[in-house]
Amino acid sequence: MKVLILGASGATGKQVVMQMIKRGISTRIVVRESAYLPREIIDASNVEIIKGSITEFSSEKLKELVKDCTAVVSCLGHNITFNGMFGKPRLLVYSTVKRICEAIEEKGGGKVKLVLMSTTAFTNTHIGEKNTTGEKIIFSLLKVLLPPHLDNMRVASFLIEKIGKDNPEIEWAAVRPDGLINEDEVSRYNVSEFILRSPISNPGQTSRINVGHFMAELLTDNKLWDKWKYKTPVIYNEKQKEK
Ligand SMILES: NC(=O)c1ccc[n+]([C@@H]2O[C@H](COP(=O)([O-])OP(=O)(O)OC[C@H]3O[C@@H](n4cnc5c(N)ncnc54)[C@H](OP(=O)(O)O)[C@@H]3O)[C@@H](O)[C@H]2O)c1
Repeated sequence: MKVLILGASGATGKQVVMQMIKRGISTRIVVRESAYLPREIIDASNVEIIKGSITEFSSEKLKELVKDCTAVVSCLGHNITFNGMFGKPRLLVYSTVKRICEAIEEKGGGKVKLVLMSTTAFTNTHIGEKNTTGEKIIFSLLKVLLPPHLDNMRVASFLIEKIGKDNPEIEWAAVRPDGLINEDEVSRYNVSEFILRSPISNPGQTSRINVGHFMAELLTDNKLWDKWKYKTPVIYNEKQKEK
C-alpha cells in the first residue's frame, strides 16, 4: 500500500503522516517549498517528500503522483491569513481534489481510497441532516462571505454527487471533525454517521491527532473502510474539555 498525502505540512496533515510512519506505510507527501516539516518526517525512511505547489502541478505530474498509490488523503485547507482566506486559489481543496480524482480515473488499474478532511460545517442533506433556521442563515452568509467555507461545501458535494458510489476507480470517505484542537496523544474518540451537536451553537472538540489516527485506521482496516466508505463520518473526542 502506498498513500499520497496532500496538505501534509498542515497541523492535521502532519498527524496523518506521523500515523503512517508509525504503521510503516509507504507514504508520498506533497508540500510547498516554504513548508516546515519536523525532523521525524524528514528523516522517515518510508516517506517520500515532493516539493512544490500542488495547485500549479500539470495533469501529467498529478498522474505521476498517484501512479503507484492505493490511497490519497487530502488535509488541504486555506491558511488563516487574509491572503489564504480571500486570495487565490479560492477553491483550493475542491479544485485539487477534483484534479486528483481525474488523475486517478485516467491512471485506471483498480480502486483508490480517497479520504477528505471535511468539516461539521458541511451538512449532509443526502442522509437527512438538516440545519435549524439560525444555522441556515449563518451558513448561507458564510458561503458568500468566506471562500474557504464554500470550498469545503463544494468538495464534499463533489464526492457525494459526482464521484458517488459507482466510480470504478475511486472509493471515498469525507471525515468531519468538529472544532479542531491540538493534543499530544491519541485519546478515545467517537465516530458517528450524523452530526450530534450544532457546529454553530454548541460546537464540540476533535483533536487533530485523533483525526490522523482515524484516517490511518480507515486506510488500514478493511472492515472499518467498508463501514465508512461513501459516507461523511463525524468525529468527536470522547472527553470534551470545559470551554
Ligand atoms: N479549524 C477547525 O476547527 C476545523 C474544523 C473542521 C475542519 N476544518 C478543516 O480542516 C482543514 C485543515 O485543518 P488544519 O488545521 O490541519 O489546517 P492547516 O494547518 O492550515 O493546513 C492546511 C494545509 O493546506 C496547505 N495549503 C494551504 N494553502 C495552500 C495552497 N494555496 N497551495 C497548496 N497547499 C496549501 C498548507 O500548506 P502550507 O503548510 O505550505 O501553508 C497546509 O499543508 C481546515 O482548513 C478546514 O477546512 C477545520
